[in-house]
Amino acid sequence: TQDKNFQVAIDGPASAGKSTIAKILAKQFHYVYVDTGAMYRAVTLAVKEANIAYDDGDAITALLPKIKISFKPGEPVQKVFLNGEEVTNAIRSNEVTNNVSQVAAYGPVREYLVALQRQIAQEDNVIMDGRDIGTTVLPQAQVKIYLIASVAERAQRRFKENQAKGMNPDLDTLKKEIEERDYKDSHRAISPLTQAEDAIVVDTTGKGIETVVAEIAQIIENHQK
Ligand code: DC
Repeated sequence: TQDKNFQVAIDGPASAGKSTIAKILAKQFHYVYVDTGAMYRAVTLAVKEANIAYDDGDAITALLPKIKISFKPGEPVQKVFLNGEEVTNAIRSNEVTNNVSQVAAYGPVREYLVALQRQIAQEDNVIMDGRDIGTTVLPQAQVKIYLIASVAERAQRRFKENQAKGMNPDLDTLKKEIEERDYKDSHRAISPLTQAEDAIVVDTTGKGIETVVAEIAQIIENHQK
């Protein structure tokens, strides 16, 4: 049952480093890594591919039963599949990034994906990252981390990521996009981004990946005893 499995929930705003940290920890502890943001992104891509408007909640709801999302291990990132087709890179496009908050705000979309996320957590020990994992998806998680970083630092990280992808990013635009996404994610009606009461806050501003990983690994070890 779900109670027997070990669950680590990592929540926090966009670009705080959740997926990078969660992936390394999953490897270290041999847990299954579940990137829930990738699921909301895959649904957003499916909406786009079906030529449905992002504000057409009814059409989006009707599309849900036709959406199958799966993951496969891969380096440097986990591979994501939408109806059997690999969409690992496609779900990171600006179009998807800038519309995912709207799609993720629909109740039926959240119900559909939360059910899938809970099912995965029933089958394996998981490290799951997202916005509502500790509050809604896995409220019984043994470890809840709330990962934060300053907007300036998060924009800087996204800037470097985009440059590495061969894009020509603008730092101020990235800052605005991050602030906008923070606002939308934390002000939506259903399961907004909030810190669970029993979550441990880890601020990654100015810290290297290894430092943050070690800090959280220690927290997990303390809870496994
Ligand atoms: O972590 P990310 O940037 O890949 O997430 C993409 C979007 O999905 C983010 O803007 C908010 C939404 N999301 C959500 O609403 N709930 C989650 N558990 C994970 C992501």
